[in-house]
Amino acid sequence: MCGIIGYIGPKNAIPILLNGLNRLEYRGYDSVGVSLINQDELSYLKTKGRVAALEEQLKEKRLQGNLGIGHSRWATHGQPNEINAHPQFDCQKELALVHNGIIENYTSLKKWLKQHGHRFCSDTDTEVLPHLIREYYQGDLLLAVQQALHLVEGAYGIALVFSKEPDKLIVARYGSPLVIGVVARGEYIVASDPTAIIDYTKQVIYLDDGEIAVLTRQGMKIVTLDNVRIDKKIQVVKWNLEEIAKSGFPHFMLKEIFEQPKTITNSLRGRLLVKEKDISLGGLGDWLDRIAKVKRVVIAACGTSWHAGLVGEYLFENIANLPTEVEYGSEFRYKQISIDPSVAYFVISQSGETADTLQSLRKIKQGKGNVFGIVNTVGSTIARETTAGVYLHAGPEIGVASTKSFTSQVTVLALLTLALARRRKTIPLKELESRMIALQKIPQQVASILKQHKKIKALAKKYCRYNNFLYLGRGYNFPVALEGALKLKEISYIHAEGYPAAEMKHGPISLIDRQMPVVVLATDTEDVIYQKVINNIEEIKARQGRIIAIATEGNKQITKLVDEVFYIPKTNGYLTPLLNVIPLQLLSYYIAVQRGCDVDKPRNLAKSVTVE
Ligand code: G6P
Repeated sequence: MCGIIGYIGPKNAIPILLNGLNRLEYRGYDSVGVSLINQDELSYLKTKGRVAALEEQLKEKRLQGNLGIGHSRWATHGQPNEINAHPQFDCQKELALVHNGIIENYTSLKKWLKQHGHRFCSDTDTEVLPHLIREYYQGDLLLAVQQALHLVEGAYGIALVFSKEPDKLIVARYGSPLVIGVVARGEYIVASDPTAIIDYTKQVIYLDDGEIAVLTRQGMKIVTLDNVRIDKKIQVVKWNLEEIAKSGFPHFMLKEIFEQPKTITNSLRGRLLVKEKDISLGGLGDWLDRIAKVKRVVIAACGTSWHAGLVGEYLFENIANLPTEVEYGSEFRYKQISIDPSVAYFVISQSGETADTLQSLRKIKQGKGNVFGIVNTVGSTIARETTAGVYLHAGPEIGVASTKSFTSQVTVLALLTLALARRRKTIPLKELESRMIALQKIPQQVASILKQHKKIKALAKKYCRYNNFLYLGRGYNFPVALEGALKLKEISYIHAEGYPAAEMKHGPISLIDRQMPVVVLATDTEDVIYQKVINNIEEIKARQGRIIAIATEGNKQITKLVDEVFYIPKTNGYLTPLLNVIPLQLLSYYIAVQRGCDVDKPRNLAKSVTVE
């Protein structure tokens, strides 16, 4: 997500900060900024856009100082513009702070700070931090930071400078990475990842959650929020730049697949309130109550986002008893239908820029309909033009084949379903609670599936030379079958089709032979579906098909029916898409690698399709 950089030492800070920001570019960003301390004066410059724009402006406004911080923002709260760019400041603009993460309780902190006379300029969650620290400052910056952070809920990696203590760079971490590069005693570069550091030093200290580092020209100390001193070991970075950008993974796609426990957690953060038996979707505000009263939902999207929409259809209909239709953006935009005020329209998009989805949105708005967004990229055109919406908070997705966005989209749709079910009283509170608890467990279950990646790698080796694949699923997992087939097509150029398992007998069954592996989603969904899928497996077996099954842990019986089985942990049926899709993503990835394909940039495809 956002990138952080900071420097203290004898050199001019600006070139080091700019170099760091450029190095962090691969993470994606929409605005940048720096702040410096010179003598006891704080200066700053922020802009929308890229580092090059900042560099250009720095030619006019020359900032001086050998202590400073910088930030590249990938917006999560508030539009990407100059005011919302970091650093954020206190009222006097004497304390500058950059932040990576999400402050969950920023609304209540902001209210409290306003009551204490603080004035806010931005829409960011971050801005509460400099104000909060200033509120507690009584001559000891570290103490004020510790007191402020005690009140903060959420995730943060922060770096800050303060003109009243002009020889100090303070960094702290909880949930968002921060690393300190040790150039020499009294010279340090801090960053959200080592890419921004290794041009200067390979000696680094990784901060752990709950730790604060105070860096001065005399040296450094690391303490906890309760001021307990910590001795940390210096480590030597062995990776090169490319490897660091991908966190050591050979491809962005694999990195993003492995990020999913974290990105799903981010999509749930502050929204899934298990104790209160409620869901908070701040971006929808009061609209949620109105959506709960509609007669019908229509979802428009493209590609993987369309598949997530299809999962949404099953969720809304089965759990919230809300009839739902899912449309391809490219089809919906040209349909000769009038927009129905009794329908809640949704658009789903990772990039927020897909032309067909955007035109669908505009068509709905022209027809005076309300349209809600489920979008990853904050401030994107779709996010701006929707009536209201929910952000994914999945971070920038770089691999062309969408992976972590799909699971975050489904996560948000699951949250929305529960919120609507609660309002529409379609399920008892006890059931709502058990579904919420199951959702909370998903990130750790995804992590446990990822630990078994070697099993999928072995399967990929065995099956990579086949030229046709069939993917079958039913109910919630029919869209997952489509998504599994799409992933394989996109990156390994193998012909693959996804089908609702029972439809097979109306056509695709004629294709089945030893040359066409069939991937079957046969997880236990606690309803009639599982037994039906088993019947479909029997049909394939009777025709000598090769079957790769995804099944629920403990299901030994299935081994008798299929050639291969990959187990996933048990979850509440409505959440099986979130687990089932993981082995399918891995399978397509490893097959593509086996076939020597360019995984991150598959031929003919674009990450964001902004043309018709
Ligand atoms: C392109 C990408 C897909 C993506 C689709 C929709 O085709 O290659 O991965 O699913 O666009 O993109 P969106 O940004 O609207 O989700």
